[in-house]
Amino acid sequence: MRKLHYAVAVLGLFTLEGVKADQAATLQILQRNACTACHQATVKTVGPSWQDVANRYRDGSKTAAELGESVKKGSTGQWGPVPMPPQAQLNDADLATVTQWILSSH
Ligand code: HEC
Repeated sequence: MRKLHYAVAVLGLFTLEGVKADQAATLQILQRNACTACHQATVKTVGPSWQDVANRYRDGSKTAAELGESVKKGSTGQWGPVPMPPQAQLNDADLATVTQWILSSH
C-alpha cells in the first residue's frame, strides 16, 4: 500500500502529464475493487489481460458501456471456462472510467 501511495505521489508531481495522472487514478480503482486479483495488464491470469480485452474489442464490437454491463453483471463463456462473478460494487462513474481505460490499453 505504501508503495502505491508513493507511486501516486510521484505521478502527482507530473500533473501536467494528465494521461499519467488518469492512469494512476484508474489503477487505484482497479486495485481497490480487486480487479487486479484476476486481471493483469499484459498477462492472462484468472481472467484475460486488459490488453487482450482491448485487442478483441478494438473494432468496436463492444463499447465501454457494453463492457461495463459484463463487469457489473458478471461474464461467462466469453474467454474460457472460468466465469467472472458480478462486480456490482463499482459505482457508475468508476465503471465508466475503467472500461474506457481498458478499451484503450494496448
Ligand atoms: C474472481 C476473478 C475476477 C475478478 C475479481 C474480476 N474479474 Fe474480470 N474476468 C474474470 C474472468 C474469469 C473473465 C472471463 C469471463 C468469460 O469468459 O466470460 C473476466 C472478464 C472480464 C472482462 C471482459 C468481459 C467481456 O465481455 O469480454 C472485463 C472487461 C473484466 N473482466 C473487467 C474486470 C473489472 C473491471 C474487474 C474489477 C471490478 C474485474 N474484471 C474483476 C475474472 C475476474
